[in-house]
Amino acid sequence: LKLNLHAQVVRDAGAVLTIEGGKGFGQVIAYEAMERGIERARQLGICAVGLRGAHHIGRIGHWAEQCARAGLVSFHFVNVAGDPLVAPFGGTDRRIGTNPFCAAFPRSGKPPLVLDFATSAVAFGKVRVAYNQGKQVPPGALIDHDGHATLDPAVMMEAPLGSLQPFGGYKGFGLAAMCEIFAGALSGGYTTHADTLGTNHAVINCMLSVILDPAAFDAPNAEAEAQAFVEWLKASPLAAGSENILVPGEPERATRAEREAHGVPVDPATWQQICAAALALGMPAQQLEHWSAAVQ
Ligand SMILES: NC(=O)c1ccc[n+]([C@@H]2O[C@H](COP(=O)([O-])OP(=O)(O)OC[C@H]3O[C@@H](n4cnc5c(N)ncnc54)[C@H](O)[C@@H]3O)[C@@H](O)[C@H]2O)c1
Repeated sequence: LKLNLHAQVVRDAGAVLTIEGGKGFGQVIAYEAMERGIERARQLGICAVGLRGAHHIGRIGHWAEQCARAGLVSFHFVNVAGDPLVAPFGGTDRRIGTNPFCAAFPRSGKPPLVLDFATSAVAFGKVRVAYNQGKQVPPGALIDHDGHATLDPAVMMEAPLGSLQPFGGYKGFGLAAMCEIFAGALSGGYTTHADTLGTNHAVINCMLSVILDPAAFDAPNAEAEAQAFVEWLKASPLAAGSENILVPGEPERATRAEREAHGVPVDPATWQQICAAALALGMPAQQLEHWSAAVQ
């Protein structure tokens, strides 16, 4: 991770921008890369941004929401370069990152539709939380080092290491592979293979973002059509045990509102890890004790 860096446009081909992240903070680099792409998509109707070599850019939905706030549609293919955690469909060891895919559709006066997921059956962060909480992971999420299915998150934390499974069998695997190539190769960054395996636990993301101005299409009814479809979906009779029908982005908005009102749950093991990191960096123990009182 390199401090105080900004996104650098290394090639400007009009509707195609190649941007170097230089291992700078992902939150700064991806924000600036999207600002460049948004400006260009407004001028030209479309912009493809190949962002390479940013340090961890976090939740991809954030970048899609930035485009949606500007009234723009976007989709994003991301790789986690040189840091494999996921086995290929039919394979038994880690060869691919958790490579997220994200797509968003803005709606005036309404929150955007935001589809945003890791192509692994579960995100690695959720496996770590399950491990810290002493819980099992859902079936189909993990295999051990021998390739056998397991529910035990320890196979991702303790040697010999196992792997995450792609979601949706060969379809999720195929999407993960295309994310790797679109993001890692087209951006001028790198894909995961024997020569690029990371050794320092840094998360390096590359992202291909395609940003579209809906006003550039001959589609004055696009938003009304999208809304009619959402209402059509929501009118489906509920399945047994289902409380509602949600569209992409709705669960995250509900969780956000809940957590802004009641706080973010942090399990004790995760809190101890945060405290250990903070103490190692010189944060006063007194400050941590003050916060610890608030952790349940
Ligand atoms: N930067 C990186 O390297 C990296 C790598 C992997 C994942 N991530 C991020 O991690 C996050 C977690 O991903 P995840 O795979 O755990 O996501 P998830 O499985 O929680 O959700 C995936 C998507 O499904 C939708 N969804 C969930 N429940 C739904 C329901 N009942 N009905 C309708 N839609 C529903 C959500 O709105 C969301 O768009 C994402 O934000 C992703 O961008 C980042």
